[in-house]
Amino acid sequence: MKNVLFVYATTDGHTYKILRNIEQNLQEVAKVQYYNVNTDTKELKLENYNYILIASPIRYGHFSKNIYNFINTNSEALNKLNASFISINLTSRKEGKDNPKTSGYLKKFNKKSLWQPKNIAMFAGKLDYPKYKFFDKYMIKLIMYLTGGETNTSKTVDYTNWRKVKEFSTAIKKDLANDK
Ligand SMILES: Cc1cc2nc3c(=O)[nH]c(=O)nc-3n(C[C@H](O)[C@H](O)[C@H](O)COP(=O)(O)O)c2cc1C
Repeated sequence: MKNVLFVYATTDGHTYKILRNIEQNLQEVAKVQYYNVNTDTKELKLENYNYILIASPIRYGHFSKNIYNFINTNSEALNKLNASFISINLTSRKEGKDNPKTSGYLKKFNKKSLWQPKNIAMFAGKLDYPKYKFFDKYMIKLIMYLTGGETNTSKTVDYTNWRKVKEFSTAIKKDLANDK
């Protein structure tokens, strides 16, 4: 079994749900440990892991500050280890907007991050109006209106392409199986 670390931020839980799905697909080959950058404080020895996956949702155009802190504090180790980055956001629900090479969010990430991940993926997240506070609800409704998404604030919509998540985890699984 390989040792795998999932480092993540989440506000509404969907990033964690995506990671749990990836973990299920890896269960025959890996033992996964989770580290929530917003709540966990224990020291980690990154070189103890065969693979590290870092995941952050986007809020108002930005990745989590605590994710940047984690990455920039550990950039030397991350640049040497087998590690990937995934971005969760609603923009990626649209055809062609899930390409890390052309994403404005990831251009910004590459400037701010001292770690340059070799493998990056973008997944559409979840729209969860009933969970949002007043201000967020109407800001997101406005963004959805401007971009042709769901504007009924009683609804939740899971935009994640779970087939794409499966493909991503299958690639990690193969990589771990080949890593002697
Ligand atoms: C307050 C707020 C701001 C958001 N801002 C953006 C944004 O700027 N761009 C985007 O594509 N998605 C944006 N999203 C969508 C989230 O990235 C998406 O809902 C994601 O699934 C949230 O992940 P989490 O449940 O792990 O927190 C925003 C969501 C909320 C609630």
